[in-house]
Amino acid sequence: MALFSRKQKTAVGLDIGSGLVKVAVIDHGGAEPELARVAMVPLLADAIVEGEVMDPAIVSDAIRAALSAAEVNPAAVATAVGGRDVIVKKIIIDRVKASQVQELMRWEAEQHVPFDMDSVELDFQILDPEADDEQMRVLLVAAKRDLVEAKLRVLEEAGLTAAIVDVDSFALHNAFERSHPEAMTGVVALVNIGHESTNINIVEDGVPVLTRDLNVGTRRLREDLQRDLGLSAEEAKAVLDAPDRSTALDTVLVARGEEIAVGIERAAAFLASASHSQVQVSSVYVCGGGARTPGMLDTMGARLRVPIVLATPLANLTAREGAFESLDAEAVAPLFMLAIGLALRGPG
Ligand SMILES: Nc1ncnc2c1ncn2[C@@H]1O[C@H](COP(=O)(O)OP(=O)(O)OP(=O)(O)O)[C@@H](O)[C@H]1O
Ligand SMILES: [Mg+2]
Repeated sequence: MALFSRKQKTAVGLDIGSGLVKVAVIDHGGAEPELARVAMVPLLADAIVEGEVMDPAIVSDAIRAALSAAEVNPAAVATAVGGRDVIVKKIIIDRVKASQVQELMRWEAEQHVPFDMDSVELDFQILDPEADDEQMRVLLVAAKRDLVEAKLRVLEEAGLTAAIVDVDSFALHNAFERSHPEAMTGVVALVNIGHESTNINIVEDGVPVLTRDLNVGTRRLREDLQRDLGLSAEEAKAVLDAPDRSTALDTVLVARGEEIAVGIERAAAFLASASHSQVQVSSVYVCGGGARTPGMLDTMGARLRVPIVLATPLANLTAREGAFESLDAEAVAPLFMLAIGLALRGPG
């Protein structure tokens, strides 16, 4: 009887990372969304390099394995694209009707996006639709079509379609908004330190205003350890994934932690010069596998001298009993920020 059958309204978020393929399943059937299940599957080295899928078969196998580990069999998933072939830019234009923005965006994109206009997908979001001042703030998104199509092909090979192809930084922001509402005032940085790359997002009063990618992540740390200390790949990985900081990590951590900290400083400085104002990042929220590297947050804090917070999607989201199965929920939750941000968008 329909009255008593609670409609299944699950959404599946798929984060195809270069180190781990991650799946998050969220049940939207209740009063509040609930995390029903997560799973992650390691990806073989070099299957994805600099955001580009080198080996579609390996990646689609890992996607199938992650879905099966999460015990779901969806027809469509929400996924995202990111990296240097995606440009997100906040622009200010004279206020026009929402219906007119679309037309303007192509022209604006030609001014702001260094890609060939015939090969990009454009999208936009009006940041202040309710305001009535003379100018309006619009977030312009341009993604190289090749990148989007490559993602769709990998999904297709895994027998899936895309419910949404989002932008990494937006999906992250979506999870962040829900889990850390306290970060929605003032200027904060949300940083996702992954396997290959680090994504820095500056958020001003809850609005994402700048995103930057750095080519540094846990893979680079592992390579540093191998090169500097002569460790094998397995030994280096053990040092990185250990619960406590080992002295072996000291030098590489300082170098890479500072590289990320400098990236944040530069992003803030860029914003300050673009807006001719003081931009002071008051706190930094960090997620992704690199946030779990012992000592990473301390190293960043020592340089930036602002509070560094471990961001977790579970800060304001209930996880169903057994959602993490054999995984240590507290340890791995920060890795699922993006997948959860995608699944939080809802089914369909
Ligand atoms: N409990 C854990 N299990 C597995 N990996 C972990 C764990 N804790 C930390 N890590 C580290 O997290 C890294 C993966 O992080 P993450 O999933 O954020 O990267 P990714 O999304 O695959 O990479 P990218 O975003 O750069 O493409 C692993 O390479 C590993 O070093
Ligand atoms: Mg990632």
